[in-house]
Amino acid sequence: MADIREKSNAVETSNAQIAVHWREEEYFYPSPKFIGQANLTDPAVTERFSEEHFPECFKEYADMLSWDQYWHTTLDTNDPPFWKWFVGGKLNACYNCVDRHLDEYKNKAALIFVPEPEREPVVSVTYQELYVRVNELAALLRDFAGLKTGDRVTIHMPMIPELPVTMLACARLGVIHSVVFGGFSGEACGRRIADSGSRILITADSYYRNGKLMDHKANAEIALEVAQQEGQAVDKVLVWKRHRGQYGSATPMVPGRDFFLDEELLKFSGELVEPVSMDAEAPLFLMYTSGSTGKPKGCQHRTGGYLAYVAGTSKYLQDIHPTDVYWCMADIGWITGHSYIVYGPLSLAATSVLYEGVPTFPDAGRVWRIAERLDVNIFHTSPTAIRMLRKSGPDEPKKYNYHFKHMTTVGEPIEPEVWRWYHDTVGKGEAVIVDTWWQTENGGFLCTTKPAIDPMKPGSAGPGAPGIYPTIFDEDNQEVTAGSGKAGNICIRNPWPGIMQTIWGDRDRFVEQYYRKYCKDPKSKDWHDWPYFAADGAVLAADGYLRILGRVDDVINVAGHRLGTKEIESACLTLPEIAEAAVVPVVDEIKGRVPEVYVSLAPGVKASPEIADKVTKTIETIIGKIARPKRVHIVPDMPKTRSGKLMRRVLAAISNNLSTGDITTLANPDVVESVREMVQGKGAVAVKDGPDDLKQFGGVD
Ligand code: PRX
Repeated sequence: MADIREKSNAVETSNAQIAVHWREEEYFYPSPKFIGQANLTDPAVTERFSEEHFPECFKEYADMLSWDQYWHTTLDTNDPPFWKWFVGGKLNACYNCVDRHLDEYKNKAALIFVPEPEREPVVSVTYQELYVRVNELAALLRDFAGLKTGDRVTIHMPMIPELPVTMLACARLGVIHSVVFGGFSGEACGRRIADSGSRILITADSYYRNGKLMDHKANAEIALEVAQQEGQAVDKVLVWKRHRGQYGSATPMVPGRDFFLDEELLKFSGELVEPVSMDAEAPLFLMYTSGSTGKPKGCQHRTGGYLAYVAGTSKYLQDIHPTDVYWCMADIGWITGHSYIVYGPLSLAATSVLYEGVPTFPDAGRVWRIAERLDVNIFHTSPTAIRMLRKSGPDEPKKYNYHFKHMTTVGEPIEPEVWRWYHDTVGKGEAVIVDTWWQTENGGFLCTTKPAIDPMKPGSAGPGAPGIYPTIFDEDNQEVTAGSGKAGNICIRNPWPGIMQTIWGDRDRFVEQYYRKYCKDPKSKDWHDWPYFAADGAVLAADGYLRILGRVDDVINVAGHRLGTKEIESACLTLPEIAEAAVVPVVDEIKGRVPEVYVSLAPGVKASPEIADKVTKTIETIIGKIARPKRVHIVPDMPKTRSGKLMRRVLAAISNNLSTGDITTLANPDVVESVREMVQGKGAVAVKDGPDDLKQFGGVD
């Protein structure tokens, strides 16, 4: 066993830095059995993808795809930071994920759909069947919905096989899809419809969640209303049925606007659509994510670079072979699902499992039963799900006869204790683990170990992925040295093919959010001058492994998903009773962080439990249940700086029972004490130290 040291707490730091202290963890090593079958075993990969070979190294990923026309320039840096990848190349993403596998894998399952109710049979969709279904839908989208290359379509669907079918049909036509997570509310969907300028909404009638058939179509009505208010009319709503031939929603269909896809598709039976040969730089999809200002950002991802990056990382880092049964338990409505349920695995002719429902439904053994029944050998999930499974059934995995060779964790920092349970109990000590750090903006993994090459270290994501050169800067633009024990802002020094192209319709915000902070020279066309700022805190250990601490901006990571505090606050302010709202993260045993809300009331309004309830309901309606606050505190006033800035950091400290630090410079320091008493009770003793993301929350002031 490697030595386990307590790091000293006495790391010296400046104002621009934060000291962190954690125990160095022991290394774990991949088994010879895993290494023997792995896609990437040659340590020379590090050299091949070193800075000396950048950007040409990424040819290795692009060559995993089938191109209609090969590119002439690997990386074009003429308009920084709007990098262009594989310029001059042409390809079709759907062709790469479907058509090209037919010769060899026609009869192999591309997708295996596991419905939540165990009484319903598992459904396998072969590559041939996927090809037929995608072609028929593409014909319908073109000829019935009038969609053409470059149009945007909003897809608000649950986890059913028709969701990847719909995405691939769009990709076949060069139509830009914008998938909105099925659990988001109609309002959230409507705002995304408006921002993307979609005139077609594709949705579903219903789906199962926790044993209940949910009415999903109801969201479409609200979405259309909100989109209309924001100036975007929707001509057609195309509705998939969860059970073929059976409408599972109580919401009426609107004649002339709403159409059932199973019925309309009959008219396109057997039609084939030539895949449109797209420029490598043509947008493939938009994926909205929360930023530190209120409005969600439409991350625009390109066709060639994105697909090359997810294919390469799926092959090398997920170790996917066509013979594997791969199960990523994320929702396709998030970037993880796009990259590592749909585009990455299918580009490699893998078999990708889709599970409709809740991991612990109807009991804590469900996930392991699915793994056993389908003989899943690669498993991919988030720390939240791991914590939940560990809590609800710590010994359940032992009861089932499945064997994972590889497991992924993504979305949040994983506690070493939880990592060890994942490794020993879920992985039965046989599986390698990759802890993959990345973001919606990034397309694919940025930091992770190479599973057959690098040792694993619980709680650490690992070094940069091949061709990714991370570094840590402090607030004074100085690089923080490895092994110093000091935290800073993790940045990526170089462009990579998976990075988003821009924020849909907002070039300035793209530059401002990700590049302004550490840009060395705005006039420079040299990529070295444009580090990418990820807005996460991190520490770099002496061995080059990065440990991610969490967000440094006003974004809360709930169960691995980013929610903008401003978005939640503006939802509260839609209630006339609310004068001010502040949202902060609190530690939650299962979900990592959840929002907690502070509100002050409009003059003349009296505090009551009903108002707190109303706030919760409003947030659920406007954003979705994922944003439900742990508690709502009605306070007489908010702590503010003299310039009137709301001090979320102070409220976050109070919510998490941490010391509030120096508050003497506030405009109203006495408010802090009364709020603290209200939340923690009289005489409560605050803890001095807490998680670094909470200490940094709201930015350095
Ligand atoms: O804070 C980091 C955290 O999740 C954020 C990205 O969230 P999102 O765009 O929703 O994408 C989630 C899935 C890619 C990051 O800024 N995060 C993601 N992966 C990890 C992580 N934190 C720690 N360890 C990870 N492996």
